[in-house]
Amino acid sequence: MRILLTGKDGQLGHDLQVQLSPGHEVIAYGRDTLDLENTEAIHRVIEQVRPQVIVNAAAYTAVDRAEGEPDKAHAINARAPQVMATAAQALQSAMVHVSTDYVFDGQQNVPYQEEDDTNPLGTYGYSKLLGEQGVRQGCDRHVIVRTAWVYGVGGKGSFVKTMLRLGAEREELRVVVDQVGTPTWSGDLAQAIDQFIAGLCPDLPGQQPVVGTYHFTNSGAISWYDFAVAIFEEAAGLGFPLALKRVIPITTAEYPTPARRPAYSVLSGQKTAAVLGAPAPHWRQGLRAMLRQLAKYEGLLSEESS
Ligand SMILES: NC(=O)c1ccc[n+]([C@@H]2O[C@H](COP(=O)([O-])OP(=O)(O)OC[C@H]3O[C@@H](n4cnc5c(N)ncnc54)[C@H](OP(=O)(O)O)[C@@H]3O)[C@@H](O)[C@H]2O)c1
Repeated sequence: MRILLTGKDGQLGHDLQVQLSPGHEVIAYGRDTLDLENTEAIHRVIEQVRPQVIVNAAAYTAVDRAEGEPDKAHAINARAPQVMATAAQALQSAMVHVSTDYVFDGQQNVPYQEEDDTNPLGTYGYSKLLGEQGVRQGCDRHVIVRTAWVYGVGGKGSFVKTMLRLGAEREELRVVVDQVGTPTWSGDLAQAIDQFIAGLCPDLPGQQPVVGTYHFTNSGAISWYDFAVAIFEEAAGLGFPLALKRVIPITTAEYPTPARRPAYSVLSGQKTAAVLGAPAPHWRQGLRAMLRQLAKYEGLLSEESS
């Protein structure tokens, strides 16, 4: 399968390049080679590559900054996916698009199902919701994967890397305890996307492609505070340098941010598990895998250690 991948330098883009099945020809673009704010450039690249599948892992992900840059967030998260979807359809190709738990308002206290009502609280979530709609309308053979609280070794940053940096510098950290969700390792998400691609392009005659919207996160649910505690437990065992002595739980009200965030954004993985044949790995398993990878990159673990 010839795959056009956007967002290659992001967390998910990095892991997709490692995890997509070796049989695929992956042509990967970063912001430097394909700027998604440039509609003409999107058309030109798709015309050149003529992909059988477009995987859009690029996005404007700065949730707080988006409040002050709504036009930019909409261009990247709403217009660009719609342009890609329409171009994919013209080539009779398929598209995998990644969306977010922030399309929900977080008022529920049970996991969100794919068909639950959306109601984003901020610009980022709203722009991502419009992106979903553009992909659904633009390309028949699509999969939209909503995920949450993503972290990985690639990309410019994540909660995990921020905690490790601050934990190396400070003895005390205050972390929000009243937002609950599911941390998701981009390596596990990339694996799931690889399976979705196989489902979108079934090679057995008569097999129906997997089309629609799916939730994929690691399994389980915790607060940012619980996640921070787990990060430091695992990191200590792997030899990451830590000055930290205490993690203190605080409320969202004590840590105001420009964008409002859902208090509860756990996504049900039932529909996805039924299609992919297994439930997603637990968040702690994903965290261990990512930290081991990071420890190897940073020379704390030898490349040979399993
Ligand atoms: N991170 C999360 O917690 C989270 C949660 C839920 C859903 N998601 C979704 O998961 C997907 C993958 O996110 P991620 O965590 O891998 O994000 P990420 O690490 O921020 O990667 C996004 C990539 O998109 C690139 N990008 C931004 N603007 C662009 C433009 N105009 N043209 C081309 N590329 C551009 C970024 O480049 P620069 O670095 O140069 O800006 C970055 O490499 C996204 O759809 C995101 O909305 C993420």
